[in-house]
Amino acid sequence: MKKILVILMVMLLAGCGAKEEQKTYVVGMSADFAPFEYRENGEIVGFDVDLAKEIEKQTGIKLELQDIAFAGLLPALQTGKIDAILSGMSVTEERKKAVNFSKPYFNVSQVIVVKEDEESIQGGEDLPGKSVGVALGTTSDTLAESIEGINLTKYNKTYEAILALNTSKIDAIILDYQQARNFVGQNPGLKILPKELAKEEYAMAIGKNNSELLETIDGALENIVGSDFYEGLLEKYIVEKK
Ligand code: ARG
Repeated sequence: MKKILVILMVMLLAGCGAKEEQKTYVVGMSADFAPFEYRENGEIVGFDVDLAKEIEKQTGIKLELQDIAFAGLLPALQTGKIDAILSGMSVTEERKKAVNFSKPYFNVSQVIVVKEDEESIQGGEDLPGKSVGVALGTTSDTLAESIEGINLTKYNKTYEAILALNTSKIDAIILDYQQARNFVGQNPGLKILPKELAKEEYAMAIGKNNSELLETIDGALENIVGSDFYEGLLEKYIVEKK
């Protein structure tokens, strides 16, 4: 009997040890944001997903991806339901009050998408008085809020705004450039205005009290950004193919 107990204890301890070796963290992403995170045959894929895999490879930690609507990501992180966000999330001073950001891993800009025959909107200065759509809780949302006189509609997902624009329910959409490129590629009759509204950087968000994870991620990003692997990611998801 004693022997069995000892064996059981050893097995238990060994089990704990194995868990210690590979720490698992839950990472939230809103998989409605091609080319960074989107679904293909039901599976979440994209730039951020490949980046997560590479971070796992470099650090030995495990990142468990969880699909959460964008506006729910920060609340989920702040209440400890998830450990980090990797979702094309832009660094902002306001968000920095609530979470820590890793080193940035991608530069992007806010742009306006309108119908191809739209003449009266050339840039942000023409938006007052117009109906504009944004995805709820995004930096595009905050930006549109800051322009007085816009008739603003907030959608749960950006593609709902695209639908509204296609059917002329709204006049313009504000969104991230790479996402805009993706939508315009799929929806003939839309165009991206060349005038940018703002420049932003994507980074991972990590809970304020988790400096260990922040250090681990920053260490990995330091190696990854600019590496051959990273160039490969740009090639796979970002480079404009002619
Ligand atoms: N970059 C913008 C922001 O931080 C939009 C990100 C939306 N990401 C997503 N996976 N839907 O607010």
